[in-house]
Amino acid sequence: MSAPPLTEAALIVRSGRVEWTGPDRDLPAGLADGPELDAGGAVVLPGFVDSHTHAVWAGSRRAEFTARLAGQAYDGGGIATTVAATRAATAEELTTAAAARLRAMMRAGTTTVEVKSGYGLTPESECRLLDVAAAAGVRAGVRVTTTYLGAHVVPDDRDRAEYVAEVIHALPAARRHGASWCDVFCDEGAFTVGEARRILEAARAAGLGLRLHAEQLAHTGAARLAAELGCASADHLDHVDEADARALAAAGVVATVVPVVALYTRSAETGQARRLLDAGATLALATDCNPGTAWCESMPLAVSLGCLTMGLSVDEALRAATLGGAAALRRSDVGQLGVGARADLVVLDAAHEADFVGHLGVQRPVRATVVGGIVAGVVAD
Ligand code: NIG
Ligand code: FE
Repeated sequence: MSAPPLTEAALIVRSGRVEWTGPDRDLPAGLADGPELDAGGAVVLPGFVDSHTHAVWAGSRRAEFTARLAGQAYDGGGIATTVAATRAATAEELTTAAAARLRAMMRAGTTTVEVKSGYGLTPESECRLLDVAAAAGVRAGVRVTTTYLGAHVVPDDRDRAEYVAEVIHALPAARRHGASWCDVFCDEGAFTVGEARRILEAARAAGLGLRLHAEQLAHTGAARLAAELGCASADHLDHVDEADARALAAAGVVATVVPVVALYTRSAETGQARRLLDAGATLALATDCNPGTAWCESMPLAVSLGCLTMGLSVDEALRAATLGGAAALRRSDVGQLGVGARADLVVLDAAHEADFVGHLGVQRPVRATVVGGIVAGVVAD
């Protein structure tokens, strides 16, 4: 991690922020006067920052999943199935389902989550999903930031140019419904680089921050666009090349990798994380929690796969899952535990972080999750 790990350490929280950290023996008298959470020798880390999820949806993609196991490739076509089910669901059904996912994330150590819309694909239904994401965050007790992803795919029954114009027209409404960000799925079968540029430039003018799904299914030039526009993050990046990686690093665009997706879509690309780090990019690691390519709420699994399939070291993966995610969301108050940071932390069920990463399929990888100094998820024995 950024600072060398402390052992026999204490951390004091006041008003939801870190007030003091250091060795136990140096604890100033009078500071430790409140209730105590004893980590019992386990590793304490900043809460995970999951900077890329599509956590609001209804329905199932089980037919697509089983077809993929039989050899069918992923091409984004299944998004339409989720859009139909999501449009048909009530706001309460969607909120209940999304809050359950966010609670599962929190129990696995996530304290800040980015949630995209993208399964509505009309201005009204996209705004409804933004409202649902925010409400689900409140219900689950995690920090949520929301992203307008009207440009997920062009609905089958819509004219392309008209749909792009509609996405642009809806940007101020998305902002009013609380979105902080705009994202575009810029890829083969989704939106072109030209369309993504128009949408993102309009999004910036509407006051939204920019993110981009880039180079997932094919190399399209999306990463270069993210660098040109100075997006906060470019995500997926399976097909990123060295020149793209250098451009992202030079532009300060955080490179977000989502190792669960490569596994889930049975894609062969695994060299991107090393290429991005070698180029000097800041790396984030996220779940991409969604029904089609990553039905997974677990940052611990994403971290383990980042190491085992993408060749990250334990430190690189944990940094990407905390500080990297925070950088992708342009936040300096989460993802680290310096004095003044949000008191968002996780007590791992491990005496060493390498054990946490190396132990797969653990039912309860985390002993406790703390959000803003409140012990939000304690796993009882
Ligand atoms: O990040 N790539 C685009 N969107 C999602 C998947 C959406 C879906 O298949 O439902 C992703 O992988
Ligand atoms: Fe995604």
